[in-house]
Amino acid sequence: MSIRFFEKEKAFVIQTKDATYSMKVSEHGHLLHLYYGKKIYDADIEMLLPVQNRGMEVNPPCVDNRTYTFGTYPQEFGTNDAGDYRPSTIELRNPDGSYSFVGTYKAHRIYEGKYSIKDMPSIFANEGDGVETLEIDLVDEVTGVGVTLYYGVYPEQNVITRATKLTNGSDGTVHLYKLASTVVDFMSGDFDMVSFYGRHCWERNFERVRLSHGTTSIGSTRGLSSHHENPFTIICTPDTNEDNGQAYGFNFVYSGNFLFEANNDPYSETRITMGINPKQFDFVIEPGEEFMAPEVIMSYSDSGFSKLSHQYHHIFRHNACRSKWVGKRRPIIINSWEPLTFTFDADTLFAVAEAGKDIGAEMFVLDDGWFGARDNALAGLGDWVVNEKKLVGGLKGISDRVHGIGMKFGLWFEPEMINEDSDLYRAHPEWCLRVPDRGITRGRHQYVLDLSRPEVCDYVIGAVNKILDEGGIDYVKWDYNRSVCDAYNASLPAEKQGEVLHRYMLGVYKVHSGIILTHPDILFEGCSSGGGRFDAGMLTYFPQIWTSDNTDAMARLKIQYGTSFAYPVSSMGAHVSVARNRYAGSVISMKTRNIVAMHGTYGYELDPAKMTEEEKQVCREMAELYKSQYDLINSGTYYRLSSPFGNDLFTAWMFVSEDKSRAFATAVLQNTECNGRNTYIKLKGLIPDALYSVNNGSLILTGSTLMNVGIHRPANIAGSTAYTYIIEKYTGTGSSADEESVDDAAENGYLA
Ligand code: GLA
Repeated sequence: MSIRFFEKEKAFVIQTKDATYSMKVSEHGHLLHLYYGKKIYDADIEMLLPVQNRGMEVNPPCVDNRTYTFGTYPQEFGTNDAGDYRPSTIELRNPDGSYSFVGTYKAHRIYEGKYSIKDMPSIFANEGDGVETLEIDLVDEVTGVGVTLYYGVYPEQNVITRATKLTNGSDGTVHLYKLASTVVDFMSGDFDMVSFYGRHCWERNFERVRLSHGTTSIGSTRGLSSHHENPFTIICTPDTNEDNGQAYGFNFVYSGNFLFEANNDPYSETRITMGINPKQFDFVIEPGEEFMAPEVIMSYSDSGFSKLSHQYHHIFRHNACRSKWVGKRRPIIINSWEPLTFTFDADTLFAVAEAGKDIGAEMFVLDDGWFGARDNALAGLGDWVVNEKKLVGGLKGISDRVHGIGMKFGLWFEPEMINEDSDLYRAHPEWCLRVPDRGITRGRHQYVLDLSRPEVCDYVIGAVNKILDEGGIDYVKWDYNRSVCDAYNASLPAEKQGEVLHRYMLGVYKVHSGIILTHPDILFEGCSSGGGRFDAGMLTYFPQIWTSDNTDAMARLKIQYGTSFAYPVSSMGAHVSVARNRYAGSVISMKTRNIVAMHGTYGYELDPAKMTEEEKQVCREMAELYKSQYDLINSGTYYRLSSPFGNDLFTAWMFVSEDKSRAFATAVLQNTECNGRNTYIKLKGLIPDALYSVNNGSLILTGSTLMNVGIHRPANIAGSTAYTYIIEKYTGTGSSADEESVDDAAENGYLA
């Protein structure tokens, strides 16, 4: 039992493998948060609560002392307009015009399995995960407005998911302006915060700051989770590194606007909140209606970032996406975008496919430009009908030719968008987001389809499914290339316009369900101008997401490193592209470009016909290497061995098999130094007293040596050189370091 309620103490205790989360109903009926951290064994730890009289704080009417205050007491949810001045968890306007909400405990339910959320993504439980749910109902006694707090407990992954539902139990209309999905009040404020900011072509940079007093927040108001801030944040003790320290992850299962707040109050207590961004959010809730806030996946590590990442990777590989492709080997892609952009015909496409096959590609993806009048970015979006003039023989023609040479065939869509120059816009100008009497804002020359309207969702589902149902398509790249504004739905009344951005997201998920879930054999890859929607919401539909439009290998070291903190390597689309790189202008060796792309779902984004024979041979060998190590890359335990954001000369990472008998490590020289220092790539995750052979016996050493001394690499070599290490448990005898001598070493303390 992970969740227990202690009746006498009125205390809830959630135990995961390494963490405890506890709360308690106070004598006045309020649900107070007590503790979240390394495992403890006492149910009632009320002594944690502050007892000081705090000047300028206010006290609720139910008490006549000056110590009980919503302003400094740790709360499991929160109140509004009742003396809590920290970042709010709920903001609403009651039917009488007041803004007050004070929840008191009413009931709770504990059951096996995971709660479900309607119309929005959430992670699920598998048989054997031991998942349990806790639901707690709080009600405001005056208005009847209620809040239900949901907790889904995954004990092995130290994961507690949270979600919040508001029920309007009053007799009038409630306006909801903010509803946090999670709130955690820590009694200590000594934390660092790690977040992942970025921009188009430069996503998910690792950034760590000390939480100072006041509120530090990250979020998105762009209508998508965004390139700019990722809806994943870590709060950790200042001593935290890859292997040590306490770290708490907060990952929002939502792809729209979000807000994460970390408030360090004057008493150095820290409140964390995460939920839908309140900007332009005003949901009208009639009596008896409910509003569900999306899920947050919280995970706790008592030993640093690596363990936290492993827990999230496990969840995303096993509990998020139901696609059969999650655990299957993904085909090596060759994509038409970078080599051909909009200019192609059936023969030029087929030539890229054929040349791709020659260097190891297994699937050809026809990117943008195959439909409507799509000869450039100005036209065609919305018209999901093949352009037969450009593509003689239609989709079937090219798909058959590609299949004929033993490759799979994939296709690009951008289903949520519309160009002004399209038949769809000419027929339905009212179907895009637009504010009356204003011009429509363009992004990449395109408008956003108003998916808050059910008929628009139905059109998109029908149009895309028509193409997919014709058959011959093995893969879909689902793109989304602009930020949202003009968030106005002409079919809704004025007072409901504050619902549009969230209704839009519900429409996105409806369209995903209507297309993706109805085509279980197709592999779907998400994309948003690269990694603009790389989030947990998307990962419930897409087993892989195009990580960035930037394919420069040196930039990718940083982008993929940052992404790996929450998301598994198996989810990151990573391709080899040309040198000179189209975004960075860099010229990096073919081998290094390949090796960096192996930190993901590997593929190509170039025209192999333009490569030298020597370069082609490198690709062929690298494709074979990728296939031979695929099981480790896709499902091995992943370790970051060094950081591309620090002073390390090498960026290195590795994958270890579950039984630790095999590993695959990579190091890329990122910084060069004249007369450079020595560098040692210290491996992780091996069995200390087992013998390992590195690269076919070129080194035979124990795990302890490989992990503590490391593999030596000189620094004064050419920039961006990459190394790979195939590590296997050594089973031979006769070496100076065979099994027997390891036993000796265990006894005598050294190896001969
Ligand atoms: C976006 C994607 C690219 C490509 C183009 C096509 O930028 O990120 O990979 O598909 O759109 O227009």
